[in-house]
Amino acid sequence: MRVLHVCAEMAPLLKTGGLADVSGALPAALARHGCEARVLLPGFPAIRAGLGALQTVARLDTPWGTAALLHQAMPAPGGGVGVYVIDAPQLYDRPGNPYADAAQNPYGDNHRRFALLGWLAAQLAQGLDPYWRAELVHAHDWHAGLAPAYLRAAAQSLGRRVAASVFTVHNLAYQGMFAAHHFGELALPGDFFRMDGLEFHGQLGFLKAGLFYADRLTTVSPSYAREIQTPEQGCGLDGLLRSRRHELSGILNGVDDTVWNPATDALIPARYDVEDLSGKAACKAALQREFGLAPAADAPLFAVVSRLTEQKGLQLVLDGLPGLLARGGQLLVLGSGDAALEAAFRHAAGATPRSVAVRLGYDEALSHRIYAGADVMLVPSRFEPCGLTQLYGLKYGSLPLVRRVGGLADTVNDSTLEDVMEGRATGFVFGDFAFEPYMAAMRRAFALYHEPAWWQRVQRNAMRQAFDWDAAAAQYAALYRQIL
Ligand code: ADP
Ligand code: GLC
Repeated sequence: MRVLHVCAEMAPLLKTGGLADVSGALPAALARHGCEARVLLPGFPAIRAGLGALQTVARLDTPWGTAALLHQAMPAPGGGVGVYVIDAPQLYDRPGNPYADAAQNPYGDNHRRFALLGWLAAQLAQGLDPYWRAELVHAHDWHAGLAPAYLRAAAQSLGRRVAASVFTVHNLAYQGMFAAHHFGELALPGDFFRMDGLEFHGQLGFLKAGLFYADRLTTVSPSYAREIQTPEQGCGLDGLLRSRRHELSGILNGVDDTVWNPATDALIPARYDVEDLSGKAACKAALQREFGLAPAADAPLFAVVSRLTEQKGLQLVLDGLPGLLARGGQLLVLGSGDAALEAAFRHAAGATPRSVAVRLGYDEALSHRIYAGADVMLVPSRFEPCGLTQLYGLKYGSLPLVRRVGGLADTVNDSTLEDVMEGRATGFVFGDFAFEPYMAAMRRAFALYHEPAWWQRVQRNAMRQAFDWDAAAAQYAALYRQIL
């Protein structure tokens, strides 16, 4: 079964969020389930630089200028995954963020940049690479949303299906919307611009195209699959999603054990595992030293590793900070994004530097040191399709404190007395997005922390949770087989 994954980022080459963690791990995991998976990526500078020498598969004229399709078998532990890269410097050769310019404004030609991605996926399903034709195209998020549309257009003109398609929603809030007058630039049949198509509120919706034209839809947790069918969380697409509910399923993301494992992680100062947690104390002490926090082994260290956006609910962390500090806790934040949140965290760190530390920016190695050294990972999201930071928290024995929503609800069990006693507890969970429920969860965290034997019991339980890619890959492979 030849499956082409289509997406805009892939760890470790280029990463702005969890999407890259998924595309960096799922294709390799699929190999163990009878799928020959390859990945198609735009030729952004970081991707080109990370891959080294590439061979040219084809040079071609596209509706957006000439482009070349390049290929390299990327050596990866556990079996290499073939990567195709689109060489189109006029569209992709720009430094920095792959979606926006230095002032954070989305590029004005994003509709062309990501139309080309979807268009080339459809070409790979029609024999562009004579040695490898995709039988199934698996498109991720709005960037790849036009791939199923181009496949449908090709099928209509040829009178037969060219490849099956799956579209995965990693985040329904990012929709890839463009002005209707760009439709002529997409090289799609005229009748695709309608409500039963990619039109959405008078505009072009790339995410909507994926949701409408793909054979099957998935999202990254069972809870989110239900939530996006409601008006509250459907971002205007809940009607379409309800109409396709029998073709929509939720498959939880996993954790890539070759990257995220405290027993083998070379990026942390001391390694540890579920039997011997002593290395974790060393990681915490090192982190406190690195950030100038008071070197107190018994002060619970709460941490955030996150994009600083509305989605992540971090206003609660700010509102709850006085209570956290009054109880003797410490806070460490690694993130970047919203200027007001950045300023608020920076201000908090300036006011109480021995208890609060902030690193603004993106730092992969530091994120490992934080997962290893923290006691609690804070993830109070307003919505969360899956969430990986709480999974990394579990794996590193840093108990996640999360809101009961989306993938967070599916992966963390609260530490009520009976759940602790019965060995089910793995973290702290609150319901309504409000100060009081958040603080109640935080108080549970402090209460448990002051009972070290119980805390360790929950830590061990958390670390034993198996959110591995193998389980997810098995479900995707079963889905592929159904459609093919
Ligand atoms: P999302 O994809 O919505 O951002 P996820 O929890 O699925 O949320 O994935 C976030 C990923 O990005 C995790 O791998 C996390 O460690 C990483 N990450 C987020 N912010 C930063 C940062 N500032 N520095 C390093 N890694 C980060
Ligand atoms: C998105 C979501 C996040 C999810 C990630 C990978 O960025 O916001 O919840 O874990 O995609 O699927």
